[in-house]
Amino acid sequence: MPSFDELPRIPDAGWLGSFGRTTVERLAMQRSIAASSAPMVRGRILHLPLALPASPDACHEVLVTKAKSFEKSPGLRVLLHDLAGQGLFTSEGELWRRQRKLMAPIFTPAALAQFAVAMRDTAERSADAMTPGQAIDLAHETTRIAMTVVGSALFGVDTFDEADALGAALTTALGWVNGSLASPALAPHILVLDLVRRISAKTHGRLRRVLDGLHHRFESPVLVPGSRGRELLDAVAVVDHRIHGMIDERRRDAIERHDLLGRLLAARDADDGVVMTDKQVRDEVVTLFVAGHETTATSLAWAMYLLARHPAALAKVVAEADAFASAPRDRFDPEQLAFTTRVFRETLRLYPPLMMFPRRTLESVEIAGTMLPPRRLVFVSAYAQHRRADVWPDPDAFDPDRFLPAEEAKRPKGSYLPFSAGPRFCIGMHFAMMEGPIVLATLLRRYRFEIDPTREIVEDDFATLRPRGGVPAIVRARVD
Ligand code: HEM
Repeated sequence: MPSFDELPRIPDAGWLGSFGRTTVERLAMQRSIAASSAPMVRGRILHLPLALPASPDACHEVLVTKAKSFEKSPGLRVLLHDLAGQGLFTSEGELWRRQRKLMAPIFTPAALAQFAVAMRDTAERSADAMTPGQAIDLAHETTRIAMTVVGSALFGVDTFDEADALGAALTTALGWVNGSLASPALAPHILVLDLVRRISAKTHGRLRRVLDGLHHRFESPVLVPGSRGRELLDAVAVVDHRIHGMIDERRRDAIERHDLLGRLLAARDADDGVVMTDKQVRDEVVTLFVAGHETTATSLAWAMYLLARHPAALAKVVAEADAFASAPRDRFDPEQLAFTTRVFRETLRLYPPLMMFPRRTLESVEIAGTMLPPRRLVFVSAYAQHRRADVWPDPDAFDPDRFLPAEEAKRPKGSYLPFSAGPRFCIGMHFAMMEGPIVLATLLRRYRFEIDPTREIVEDDFATLRPRGGVPAIVRARVD
């Protein structure tokens, strides 16, 4: 069994360690994981050793079969603390387990089917506002659509976008989180947080209370520059005020609503009948908003770009979209958009919006034959898995038919991870897999989007894997 230090080492990209300073360097690092024949490789972040599972099996072990031995790495939890608190994305342990159980029934395909109408309507309204000849940025357009869709699903309103005060405040706060992900202050912050927790666990009485108070303070990103900036504090205050206002109103009027907020308020634990506190509902609402729009928006923008470069696939999507337009609006059968769904899945393979899932071991655990000690950082890269030539022949080529059922059955577990896997897989997966194909079909039935064929759009890994510089396009009337 190779020890950790005997694992092949990926080269440092600078003083920070394995992660380069540019997107190009970070993608190159993940391609080198994809090219590795070893099941796991190692790197570092500053002085901290980092395990990087390279084979599909090793990823499956971390995310699924040995998931209990891992927690999410605390970086994002700290950055999102003031905005999303203890929502599903960032919580751990018993709180996470309870919340996931409470929320799972709200996110089944059957429970989400009612939102298909809002997805169609939102995309139709966006198309109504376009005119042939107009220059647009498809990345901006899909962000507005995805924000409106998630706002409509959460609050039952169809006017929610960044023009709304709540939308603007959430966008400001999220912008700060995104901008701070690469902050050099984050690693020392987490070291302090861990140290305080470890010392506090060994103390008693007054000292323990002081250390616990300190720990509580460091759960907020206080060492990260800008975390106490006026604009950010104001934005979080608007989020608190508006969401608590809506919760109070719903509780006071006792009107049963079937949007996601209504369902979160009504959710009751099957075993003990307990409902969520208002603070927990607020944290979940913000989490769903944050997790639920930029990911989908980014993948929609990439899908439009890929389709503009692959006319044969575009023609098949448009044919499906024409048939879909006359299908009943109040029901959604994914079979109606089977090819468009494959296009969306292939887009998520080439450009997984969340490229890496950072984890940390809670105890000693063996992964791919190597024993990892407690508190070892382990990053699973979806991007690396999606570019493995032994799993995906010609991995950089766009080919939606990789997702024909017979092809899917051939691939190993752990090789396709846009929504992660195991207990912490994306709870919004069915929502996204409905929204993506519906929005693509609705927009592409109405117009052609002309994208300069000579311009290759590259990735920018700013929070999600975005198209750098957006996706500039000219709206053209359909001519067929
Ligand atoms: C294409 C769109 C989407 C992609 C690619 C995506 C991807 C992911 C991934 C990879 C994770 C797991 C991260 C990790 O394990 O570290 C995740 C978690 C999560 N996602 Fe999504 N997501 C998408 C859309 C959505 C939507 C539409 C919603 C809600 C409406 C949502 C809500 C969440 C939540 C709440 C979690 C945390 C789940 C937990 O830890 O229990 N996501 N997502």
